[in-house]
Amino acid sequence: MDKLLINGPSKIEGEIRISGSKNSALPILASGLLSKGSVRIGNLPHLNDVTTMIELLSCLGVDLLIDEKLGVELNAEKITQFTAPYELVKTMRASILVLGPLLARLGKARVSFPGGCAIGSRPVDLHLRGFEALGATVTVESGFIEAVVDGRLKGAHIFMDKVTVGGTENILMAATLAEGRSIIENAAREPEVVDLANCLNAMGAKISGIGTDKLIIDGVEELHGCDYDVMSDRIEAGTFLVAAAATRGWIKVKDVDPHSLEAVLAKLEEAGAKMTVGDDWIRLDMEGRKPIAVDIRTAPYPAFPTDMQAQFTAMNSVATGVSTVVETIFENRLIQVHEMNRMGANIRIEGNTAIVEGCETLTAAPVMASDLRASASLVIAGLCANGATLVDRIYHIDRGYECIEEKMQLLGASIRRIPGRLSNEQSEQSS
Ligand code: EPZ
Repeated sequence: MDKLLINGPSKIEGEIRISGSKNSALPILASGLLSKGSVRIGNLPHLNDVTTMIELLSCLGVDLLIDEKLGVELNAEKITQFTAPYELVKTMRASILVLGPLLARLGKARVSFPGGCAIGSRPVDLHLRGFEALGATVTVESGFIEAVVDGRLKGAHIFMDKVTVGGTENILMAATLAEGRSIIENAAREPEVVDLANCLNAMGAKISGIGTDKLIIDGVEELHGCDYDVMSDRIEAGTFLVAAAATRGWIKVKDVDPHSLEAVLAKLEEAGAKMTVGDDWIRLDMEGRKPIAVDIRTAPYPAFPTDMQAQFTAMNSVATGVSTVVETIFENRLIQVHEMNRMGANIRIEGNTAIVEGCETLTAAPVMASDLRASASLVIAGLCANGATLVDRIYHIDRGYECIEEKMQLLGASIRRIPGRLSNEQSEQSS
C-alpha cells in the first residue's frame, strides 16, 4: 500500500487549480443510464471512484468513449443488464446510484447491498422507500437489493425523513422518467444535487425547485443526450484552504465557485484568515498568523459540510484556544482524532463532540488513514508537525483527491509518495 511521507512543518503558499467534483461526477455518470442519446461528461476528476463508476456502467452494457482528458461519452441506448455486481459495489458504495436510473429505464434493478464504511453504517432505507413510493416493489435478499415495477414508475409526493444527498439524487433520477408529477420534500440542497438536476434538465428532464428543499419533477417519456461539465470540487478547495490556514500560509484556489463554500469561508474568516473571492477563485492569507480555534457543527447544506469537519479538527489542534467540533451527520466520523492525538494533539471525544485544545505544534508520527476526509486531515496535521509523518493506507485519499502530493508540492509542501504493495484492504468500502 502506498504511503505519504510529509516533512513538517511545511507552509502552504501558492496557487492551484481545483479539479472536478467526485460527489457530482458519480451521480452524473450514473444519470447517463437514463438517456437514449449520447451523453458527454467533462471536467471529471482522475480518481479511483470515477474509474470504478465508469467500469460499472460498462458492465451494465453502456457504450463508453474516454478521451485523453478523461472526458467521457456514454451511450446507454441499448442497455439490457440490470445487475450491479458485488465486486464493484463493495469497493464503492456510491454504486447504489445506478439503482434509480436502471429502475426507471428498464423497470428493474438488482444492486448489491452497499455495506457501511469507517464513518458509519450508511443505510439506504430512504432510497428504497422513495422507489416504493414511485410504485416499485423492493426486496432485499442474499445481499442484493431488487427493485421492479410493472410498466412505468408513477409520480408521487415523497417526504424524506432525513436529508440525504444520495437518496435525493437516486429518487430524483428515477422520477425523471416516471408517469406524472413527483415532489420530493425535505430534499438535499447540496451543490452536487443542483449540478445533477441541471445535467438532467440538459437531457430534457423537467425539474423545478432546483437548489431548494422541494424538488418538483414532471416525468417525461425519455431523455436525450447532452454535453455537460461537472462542477468543481468544493471539498478539495476547502481542504487546501484549511491546509494554508493551519500552516499560517496563503493560497489562491482557482476554478471554484465561492458560493458553494460560504459556511466554510465564514469559519476561515472567524479563524483569522484574510479572505478575498472572485467569480471562480478564492484567496486566503493568514499573514503569518496562527489560526484562532473555531467551533464547528456539521449539518446539511447550506450549513457547515460534514466533509470539511476532519480538516477543521486538524486546524483547531494547532490553533489558539479551545474549540468544539460536533458531527451530526455520521455516527463515527471523529475517528481521525485518535491518530491526531498520537501526534501530540489534545482532543477528547464526548459522544458526537470533539473538544480540541489548541497546542503550539504537533509531533510527527506514523499514522493510518481510515476514510477519505480523515486521510486529508492527517496530511494537514503532518504539514503542521515537527518531523517526518508517514500516512499509511492512502488509497482512501486517492479516492477523493486528484494528485494530492503533486498539488501540495506545488504549494511548497515537502511531501512524497512511498509506493507500496497492493493489498486486499484496498477493496475496502469507500466513503
Ligand atoms: C454523500 O454521501 C457524499 N458522498 C458524502 O461524501 C457526504 O459526506 C454525504 O453525502 C453528506 O453530505 C457522495 O456524494 C458520493 P447521505 P451519502 O445519504 O449520500 C443517513 C466524501 O467524503 N441516511 O446524505 O451517502 C446517513 O446514515 C463522502 O466525499 C439514512 O439514514 O450521505 C447519514 O447519517 C463521505 N438513510 C445521513 O443520512 C438513507 O437511506 C446523510 O447521509 C440514506 C442516508
